[in-house]
Amino acid sequence: MQVIVINSQKGGSAKTMLAKHLSIEAERAGDGPVFLIDTDPQGSLTAWHAKRDSEIPQRAELPFEGLEKGLELLRYRGARYCFIDTASGRIEVAKELFKLADFVIFPIQASEDDLTAAPVTVQALKDAEVPFLFVLTRVKANTLITAQAAAVLSKHGEVAETFVNDRTAYKSPYPGGRTITEAEPKGPAAKEIACLWENIKSCLHENMEQSTEVRAHG
Ligand SMILES: Nc1ncnc2c1ncn2[C@@H]1O[C@H](COP(=O)(O)OP(=O)(O)OP(=O)(O)O)[C@@H](O)[C@H]1O
Ligand SMILES: [Mg+2]
Repeated sequence: MQVIVINSQKGGSAKTMLAKHLSIEAERAGDGPVFLIDTDPQGSLTAWHAKRDSEIPQRAELPFEGLEKGLELLRYRGARYCFIDTASGRIEVAKELFKLADFVIFPIQASEDDLTAAPVTVQALKDAEVPFLFVLTRVKANTLITAQAAAVLSKHGEVAETFVNDRTAYKSPYPGGRTITEAEPKGPAAKEIACLWENIKSCLHENMEQSTEVRAHG
């Protein structure tokens, strides 16, 4: 099982949005069973999950102190991916979660405020030696600031090739707690999220190969 923590210290960067859409995409792509864990006291992911008619992705409710043991249990139950949604502005908690992560998704908007806030998270990720990927979110097509943000971020870590566009559909409610990607599986949002999941998986695999090589030669 791969544990994927979604974190950035900036609020509203699309952590919860990515937890929802990527977990659904991973199941759709045949990469399940996928589990979700909500560590944000705001509970947005939990509230959304409670509205869902579908049984998947599953959500595990675990106390923070019991996370490590809980993850072991999910592994034992055959989970392949576990996405952990996190709160913004709680770097000490994030640092604990990075210790449990195989990979971290770092959602970020192409804005001056988001870029200014990024170094705190980047430093914590580097200290934890956990592989991570920047994902540009709420992107307005063909904007100079997006290209500039991608260029700045690429000096500090890998930036996902797929940018998540700003789409009203991502924030709109659908019956039964569905997402736009489920409501319109052939639509542009579904294609975008599918491409992003592919980017993330190839990054994960590259990192797994590298750590296997380090273990073999070190
Ligand atoms: N690509 C997008 N297009 C349009 N709206 C989006 C997109 N991504 C996220 N949103 C909306 O922006 C808002 C903030 O997103 P979200 O709640 O996922 O951020 P967050 O990082 O989890 O915030 P918090 O730090 O408060 O937990 C939500 O209303 C969400 O629906
Ligand atoms: Mg959130």
